[in-house]
Amino acid sequence: MRYDSITEAIGNTPLVRIDADVHGLGNIDLYAKLELLNPFGSVKDRPAWHMARPLLEAAADGDGTVVELSSGNTAKALALLAGMHGLRFKSVTNRMRVPEIKELLLLLGAEIEELPGRSECLDPTDTDDPLTRFHQALAEPGNAYLHTDQYFNPRNAEAHAMGTGPEIVKDLDGRAPDWFIACVGTAGSSTGVARALREHHPRVGVVGLVAHKSDFIPGIRTMDEVQQVGLFDPATYDTIESVTSQEAIDGMITLIRRCGVLSGPTGGAAYHGAVRRLRAVDARLAQTGERQTAVFIVCDRAESYLSYVRERRPEVLGRPARGHSVASLTEAEVQERGKVLAVADARSWTATADPRPLVVDLRGPHAYAALHIEGSINIVDELFEELVRTGLPFSKRTPLLLVCPVGEKSLRFAALLTRMGHPDVRSLAGGVVAWRDAGAPLVRE
Ligand SMILES: Cc1ncc(COP(=O)(O)O)c(C=O)c1O
Repeated sequence: MRYDSITEAIGNTPLVRIDADVHGLGNIDLYAKLELLNPFGSVKDRPAWHMARPLLEAAADGDGTVVELSSGNTAKALALLAGMHGLRFKSVTNRMRVPEIKELLLLLGAEIEELPGRSECLDPTDTDDPLTRFHQALAEPGNAYLHTDQYFNPRNAEAHAMGTGPEIVKDLDGRAPDWFIACVGTAGSSTGVARALREHHPRVGVVGLVAHKSDFIPGIRTMDEVQQVGLFDPATYDTIESVTSQEAIDGMITLIRRCGVLSGPTGGAAYHGAVRRLRAVDARLAQTGERQTAVFIVCDRAESYLSYVRERRPEVLGRPARGHSVASLTEAEVQERGKVLAVADARSWTATADPRPLVVDLRGPHAYAALHIEGSINIVDELFEELVRTGLPFSKRTPLLLVCPVGEKSLRFAALLTRMGHPDVRSLAGGVVAWRDAGAPLVRE
């Protein structure tokens, strides 16, 4: 294998069978498409190169900055591609939540601009979100950036329709699998691969996987963020199902320890989601004696997610198991223990209660600086979780109002603190968004 450029090594990734002793599906051949073996390390190498190529050719004079709204693998690939072509790369994103990835991007020469947006992924319907406003500004004529636009660029899905999908068919001796399972971020890989597979087998079952409501799996959307924006088209999927971060880590550990596949969390989520979905199918096939084939994608590798695993499963990394953590709450416990206050009640409570409640804003520092409830203090959720791990960081005599973007995370923390014995902790229903929509005052730093 001899190449003139590293970009020639993108694609043609292996399709590896997962041993039935591992997944336990007796009538289904389950294969992993190892996108982690692309040269820049992920499934995003293909669309990054396919989207950037025409822009890089147009900027052949070596002047310009490639820009993308990405805090992960697309940014990684684009930073390397821009560097190879003597260009700069700027990653514009909401809060970067995985420290290793931020440091890796800096190592690769990327400039990072973090905006106080509300979610990981771009939501173009949210016109107040600074990330959305930045995205709109990029579409205006005369802006100086080379914008790859992964959430809308058809070349994102096309890279997979031309490469990933046909490679799967070729490696299955010209047949599409019966099932295809993939995590959904921009939706480029699932859309493109599904399109290519359906050309061979119109009835292939396509399962899209997202992170469970208010949970976080780096690189993909949550159930709340799955909406009709950009490349995402619900018609692509037979079902959209959710996976928790704990299930993603379980899947990741199985792929690593039993299959020799050095998968990151979304590969683990895809494995877990695939096996869970296919169990019922397998039971039906056992009746008829028919065999089926399924393929899932392993998007990237484990090394960048050590802090992610440490936070959620410390014992795997030889540390003491977590003390108090939101991950240990069941849904029923959140509903039972978490007390909420509507905006009007929260306003009068914080103004009149004696002693005066402490308002703790759990959002990132940029969002807090942009707008917050007067008198509130800012402790970003990851730090707050660290603080409460070993005990209550506040006096039980101080009533607490917890605030987050939409009131989901704060409800979980309210339930956790209540379980830990705090007698008066509440969560602002609907979060800062509801407070703002009700016309209640917010101040800027
Ligand atoms: C780790 C990881 N997994 C899965 C995906 C989902 O891929 P897509 O954007 O093609 O939906 C991404 C996207 O960035 C990713 O970074």
